[in-house]
This record gives sequence, structure tokens and C-alpha cells, in this order.
Amino acid sequence: MTTTTIAKGLEGVLFTETKLTFIDGTAGVLEHLGIPIQQWAEKSTFEELSFALLHARLPKADELAQFDAALKANRAVPAELVSLIEAFPKGVHPMQALRTAVSHLGLFDADAENITEEGRYALSVRLIAQFSTIIAAIARTQEGQPVVAPRADLTHAGNFLYMLTGKEPTEEQARLFDIALVLHVDHGMNASTFTAIATASTLSDMYSAITSAVGSLKGPLHGGANEAVMDMLDEIGTVDKAEAYITEKLDRKEKIMGVGHRVYKYFDPRSRVLRDYAAHVAEKEGKSDYYAILETIERVIVERLSSKGIYPNVDFYSGTVYSDLGIKKEFFTPIFALARISGWCASVNEYTLNNRILRPDAVYTGAREAAYVEIQDR
Ligand code: ACO
Repeated sequence: MTTTTIAKGLEGVLFTETKLTFIDGTAGVLEHLGIPIQQWAEKSTFEELSFALLHARLPKADELAQFDAALKANRAVPAELVSLIEAFPKGVHPMQALRTAVSHLGLFDADAENITEEGRYALSVRLIAQFSTIIAAIARTQEGQPVVAPRADLTHAGNFLYMLTGKEPTEEQARLFDIALVLHVDHGMNASTFTAIATASTLSDMYSAITSAVGSLKGPLHGGANEAVMDMLDEIGTVDKAEAYITEKLDRKEKIMGVGHRVYKYFDPRSRVLRDYAAHVAEKEGKSDYYAILETIERVIVERLSSKGIYPNVDFYSGTVYSDLGIKKEFFTPIFALARISGWCASVNEYTLNNRILRPDAVYTGAREAAYVEIQDR
């Protein structure tokens, strides 16, 4: 069936059913399996939410323990991949590196082409576990540091911080990072999830689907926004300059990064959770002006743009939280991928159970029934 009404950006187009994530953009509600994101952030972990999305239900204690053990057992990546990462040119964008590394990882997986339900599930577990090791290895090599091997006695979040910094994080740091991961695990039919599904819908393999998704997340309108927020904060410098800076930008009709969302026309609930943690860290550690600058920007944005449904999104505060954990802004987007890998896998698995190749259409506006013009006559 074709229609002549164009849904620009596919806005409002429904193409499948899902039991994983519910979003009410007008009320600022995000739920996974019906449970509000605030409760996942407060009570759960990255590991549990990943299981819940992959199985579309909460795990029992023994199931969660088994899943956690499987993630831990799959953390190591082939030595060839580490060598490849070490050989990447210095200064490449970490998302370029991640895209290449995931694709390369597939070459070493004897079961990479398995697209049965069980095959996709097993690959999902491996990919979730190994993403962490790959991203930490990319960050270490880009910083000229030796790669740190994973440890099996730490949580997913704690192990990642350990591999990234070479130091075991405090319990509070690991928990804060875990919450940041939980907030980013899934978000309905965002561009990268849709990209993963589009690739998988051709009955392509998991590595191809996830490599496509990484490429999609790389763009500044999607995953790159929190890095851009930090650039903006560094450009502003001190809180006394924040209001004038934002006002001038808005007067010039420039977009403010970390603000606005295709779905949310009210506060993104994830931004509220992150704001509270950013405030807590700023108060406790007094590390930077970042939080104070963001508070000022938020006030101006709400004053000037709330009538258009523009409010801070998840990226607005996430950068300061990462920055306070000692993570450099170049690695913010890969960290988004570190969390979203679970959502990508769960969504691909859910969709391919009732697969239909994605094939939208475009309204043709070119010439019709034209005669071919010989090259010498053009
Ligand atoms: N700053 C200032 N004004 C904005 C912003 C912004 N960030 N975003 C939207 N607006 C304005 C638009 O200029 C437009 O105004 P107009 O009606 O006067 O022309 C109006 O709000 C509607 O905006 P659209 O561009 O139509 O919104 P759309 O849904 O297409 O875009 C997007 C959503 C891409 C996220 C946009 O808000 C944006 O570019 N934000 C900055 C980048 C960002 O933070 N991305 C992260 C998104 S969340 C994520 O991926 C995890």
C-alpha cells in the first residue's frame, strides 16, 4: 500500500509492535516492561535490565545470577582484535573505531551467521559483554595507555570503569555509572535501534545489525549530543556567561545541544534522574562549574522554548556525570553504545521473531517517460 502523505523523518509512523519500551512524550514518561525508568534507575542494574529486555520479563534471582555469570564469562575479546584496535590511527573518532571493531569481532565468531532465536540470543549476550571490553580498549589505546584485561569479580559497570582507568572504582562510582547505563539501555524506535532492525529485517546477522546501529548512533543529532554539550560548557567557561551565551545563540536561531527531542515534548525523565545525580556530585565534590552552568541554561531554555515543547533531553546532564567520573568527552558516545547495545539486541530479537523486511517508499517527484538522450547530444 502506498500513500502520498510524507511522514518526514518517519515521525508518527508505526511499523511494528513491541513489549519492551513505552514512551509518553507529552507527559515525560518512559517505562520498560511497564516499569517507570525512575524505578529501574533506583532499584535495578544494567545486568538486570538487559535480561529483562532480552526476555521481556523480570528475572528470578537464579536466572539473573546465571545471566551475570554468562556476561562475565564472555568479557574477553580475541587478541587479534586488541592488536587491530592498537593499530588504529591515533585520533580517529572512537565511534569509527567501535564500528570497525564490532564488524571485525564478527570475523572471529564461528556462530556469527546464526540467526535462529537461540543463536541471536547467545550472540546478544556475547556482544553485550564484549562491547565493554572493546570500548575500554579503544579508549585506552587512544590515550596511549596499555589495554587492561577484564576482571570477572566486578559488576558490568565497575569492570568497565576498571578497564577504562586501570583503577578499581569505588562502590559509589560504579553504582553511579551503572545508573547512567540503565538510563540509556533502551528508548523505543530511536534512529540506531531502527537501523539495527532495518538491517536485521533482511535476515542479516547480528554483527551486521549492530555495526549499522553504531554508525547511526555516531551522528551528532543522536549519540553525539552529550559530547557537544560538554564542548558548549567548555566554551561558556563560567556560570556568569551562561545566560548571555544561550540567549545570543537562540536569537541567532541556533540549536542548543542536549535540548529538544523527537518524542519528548516535556522533560525527558532520564534528564531528571541525571540532574539529581549531577547535583549530588557537584555538591559533594564541588568539582566544576558545569552543573551551575547547566542549571542556568535549563532555566533559559524552559523560559524561551517550552512553548515549542523543547526541554532538556538525556544528553543534557549525562556529560557532567561522566566527566565527574573522570571519563573524557570523546568517549561519551561509545558509552552510550555500551548501554544501548542491550536495547539494540533485544529489539532486533523481538522484531525478527515476526520478521518482515523493512521497505518504505518515497514519493517520486522526477520526470516521467522521458526519452534517453545520447551523450553527445546533452
Ligand atoms: N535548540 C533550539 N531550538 C530547537 C532545538 C534545540 N536543540 N531543537 C528543536 N528546536 C526548535 C526548532 O528550531 C523548531 O523551531 P521552529 O518551529 O521555530 O522551526 C522546533 O524547536 C521544532 O524542532 P524540530 O527540529 O522540528 O524537532 P525534531 O523533532 O526534528 O528534532 C532533535 C529533534 C533532532 C533532537 C532536535 O531537537 C535537536 O537537534 N536537538 C539537539 C541535538 C540533541 O540534543 N540530540 C539528542 C537527542 S536525544 C538522543 O538521541 C539520545
